[in-house]
Amino acid sequence: MDYKKYIADVVDFPKEGILFRDITPLMAEGEVFKSACDEILAFAKKVGANVIVGPESRGFIFGCPVAYSMGIGFIPVRKPGKLPRETVSMSYDLEYGSNELHIHKGDIKKGQKVLIIDDLLATGGTVNATIQIVESMGAEVVGCAFLIELEDLKGRELLKNYEVFSLMSYK
Ligand code: PRP
Ligand code: ADE
Repeated sequence: MDYKKYIADVVDFPKEGILFRDITPLMAEGEVFKSACDEILAFAKKVGANVIVGPESRGFIFGCPVAYSMGIGFIPVRKPGKLPRETVSMSYDLEYGSNELHIHKGDIKKGQKVLIIDDLLATGGTVNATIQIVESMGAEVVGCAFLIELEDLKGRELLKNYEVFSLMSYK
């Protein structure tokens, strides 16, 4: 499948100098969306994940269908002020800013095998902060899966100790 055909490139969004890779055309094509989710699902099975963790907000779009297909849980990673109960958090830098990520305390159990799913790997700040939170809860990160990898931002270097899967790569 030529997935790149379904990614819209948007210049200077959300800030000048950023080439934004918009996944919404891919999501709008049922067969293409299903095929992308199925490829991530195959990776989830290969690494033996028993829970999916997905960062807000685009990580939810691909993480939930995979968790549903496997009949396993989905744990949301959220930005500040969204989760109502006590959380574990970590701050991180983005290609266009910085923020903090949170997971509800107790949502991830010791020894669980976690697959982190997000739409895009850029600097790796988001996935790295997510890994720190997951591991601090005593779980094992068995893999990280993305639709898109922006190679030049070298996010993969932060993930050298983990199994990484991406459907598309851009230089
Ligand atoms: C985007 C994207 C990834 C992250 C990747 O999310 O969906 O989560 O940035 O960048 P990084 O590898 O440099 O951390 P964003 O924080 O823009 O939030 P959104 O999904 O709610 O738009
Ligand atoms: N998240 C971080 N960088 C991005 C980019 N260039 N396009 C889409 N989402 C992103």
